[in-house]
Amino acid sequence: MAAKSTIKSEGGKVRRVIVVGGGLAGLMTVIKLCEAKVPVDLISLVPVKRSHSACAQGGINASVNTKGEGDSPQVHLEETAYGGDFLGNQPPIKGMADAAPGIVYMLDRMGVPFNRTAEGLLDFRRFGGTLFHRTAFAGATTGQQLLYALDEQVRRWETTDVTDEHGVSLPGEKMVRKFEFWDFLQAIIDDNGNCVGCVAQDLKSMHIKHFPGDAVVLATGGCGIVFGRSTLSVICTGTAAAAAYQQGACYANGEFIQVHPTAIPGADKLRLISESARGEGGRVWVPKDKNEKREGRDVPEKERDYLLERMYPGYGNLVPRDIASRAIFQTCFHEERGIYSTITGKNEDEVYLDLTHKDEKFLRGKLAGILEIYEKFAGVDPYKNPMKVFPAVHYSMGGLWVDYERDAKGSLRVGSPRNHSTNIPGLYAVGEVDYQYHGANRLGANSLLSCLWGGMACGPAVATYTRNLAKSALDLPSSTFEKAEKRALADYERILKQNQDKKNAENAYRLHQELGDTMLRDVTIERHNDQLEKVLTKLDELDERVKNVKSTDDSPRVNQGAQFVRHLENMLVLARVIAQGAKDRDESRGAHYKPDFPKRNDEEFLRTTMAMHEKKGAVKYVRELDYSLAGANVHVTDAVDTTLVAPRTRSYEQAGAASAAAASKLDTKQPQSAGKSA
Ligand code: FUM
Repeated sequence: MAAKSTIKSEGGKVRRVIVVGGGLAGLMTVIKLCEAKVPVDLISLVPVKRSHSACAQGGINASVNTKGEGDSPQVHLEETAYGGDFLGNQPPIKGMADAAPGIVYMLDRMGVPFNRTAEGLLDFRRFGGTLFHRTAFAGATTGQQLLYALDEQVRRWETTDVTDEHGVSLPGEKMVRKFEFWDFLQAIIDDNGNCVGCVAQDLKSMHIKHFPGDAVVLATGGCGIVFGRSTLSVICTGTAAAAAYQQGACYANGEFIQVHPTAIPGADKLRLISESARGEGGRVWVPKDKNEKREGRDVPEKERDYLLERMYPGYGNLVPRDIASRAIFQTCFHEERGIYSTITGKNEDEVYLDLTHKDEKFLRGKLAGILEIYEKFAGVDPYKNPMKVFPAVHYSMGGLWVDYERDAKGSLRVGSPRNHSTNIPGLYAVGEVDYQYHGANRLGANSLLSCLWGGMACGPAVATYTRNLAKSALDLPSSTFEKAEKRALADYERILKQNQDKKNAENAYRLHQELGDTMLRDVTIERHNDQLEKVLTKLDELDERVKNVKSTDDSPRVNQGAQFVRHLENMLVLARVIAQGAKDRDESRGAHYKPDFPKRNDEEFLRTTMAMHEKKGAVKYVRELDYSLAGANVHVTDAVDTTLVAPRTRSYEQAGAASAAAASKLDTKQPQSAGKSA
């Protein structure tokens, strides 16, 4: 039987759901919860407007077909499933593709400054893995514009009173309470195995506090920092996902890590140069002569090898990311045909990304955001010189395993409490932290979409879940929360105190560098089992050495050193899931490529990798799971639902050549030749 009031606990307090993470997925979940009259505590590691969604550049996919190319949500579904090498469950993808046009129009109404055509329509550009113009964009700072738009909507809810069942305002109670600069430490799990809140730490006072909640939604983003430097923000350590995993949440498809083909190096992070550069006509090349020493702009056209156009005549520079990154890696690493550097006196792992054939005014209108980044960090004018880029870790297709319920049309049944539920009842996950929408390789510009659609599916799911709870978390004995808080506090004190007197204690930042170097070298574009064995041995070593870490800081306020130790411990946990998953999957699929097993093997591996944490840190892989939701048992397996688009061999070599020729006739702004054009 459900609790008497959906708004108040038995004790008369306002019932709340906790959303952890203030990026697009978190904010959209908050909005949907508020629309369903569910008050929220929003916890964020950074100010919401600094969430990693702000770094997304190129755009958001929606098959609006304003250019009359014959695009449709069905084609979007098919290309997403195909691009993901059929590892994605198709009902959630269908839900996302069908909802996408409405989402983009909603964002437009919210005031997102999307680029428009001369006629005033929303403009759409091309992105990887499709021949259609499907990507709506706001210059090359789309993520930031979307994030700011949603932030404004959530601010409205921050000033809106909670009302009771009769519509009467509850003074002092706002629909959203926001906690910025708080780090999620752990979920609170009650004696029945339900998630009933979380413990978090205020990163200014370092105060540790419990937050009771009828459900907790993790919208905490990806884990790229496990690889050291990546295009992800330095906050993207995956710490919350790792904590939940260690508490019993299943982690799925961890081995699928996306490497974006075009980024620039930096001491702190690798900066993305958006796929939209290629979507607007940018061309990737290296000199034909590997002994070429001239500056890129001085190499004549006929002496350039446009490698992606040569290898993939149909999709050219817009082949999906896994394929483009592999081609660039092969060229630079195996063939040693990267760009010559006058500083090191050898060919470096870099290729040219060239926009110099495009008109400057056109580029400023569409790509100024990223070209400014290049000029600022590389110190070279990209309007006049080809940019030097190389692949970088960019996205995790894997993440916390989440469920969904299929409807009669094969889509997602919106409102089902199963959508986005982890296997811990009451604990939900959405956004990059979940594994749901991208299979073995994500298509560019599907991530903003999956965050927003995920939030639109997750919010109602959580509302249904909490409405049907027999008891609010607030009516549980206070000891449930105190115990969890004490445990988290003890763990923090351990980190502060451990090894302080040791002379030869380890430094967490150095260990992180070793971890990153190892993962980057052996668990990204090409994977070999003998190397992966060595990675696992290295992780054993790091697991031992991390016990010897001394926090570099013992101050009681803003102690980033101690916080980093915690994140490092958690990164090591996820690194093992990623590396072990890669080792065990003896096939090549999407972003997971093993030269020794170059083919996809559907017979054995068309299945979700489901990892469970074992006590001593080992990873246990399961083929099925049972969890209980609203009193009913839910049984799931690792089988992938491919009933909407039948799996077929994925090949972009010849694909699309004829339609690409037709598409380039349609779009006079997309020349594949190097003539100066707009
Ligand atoms: O290349 C980009 O602009 C990135 C977009 C994405 O990851 O979806």
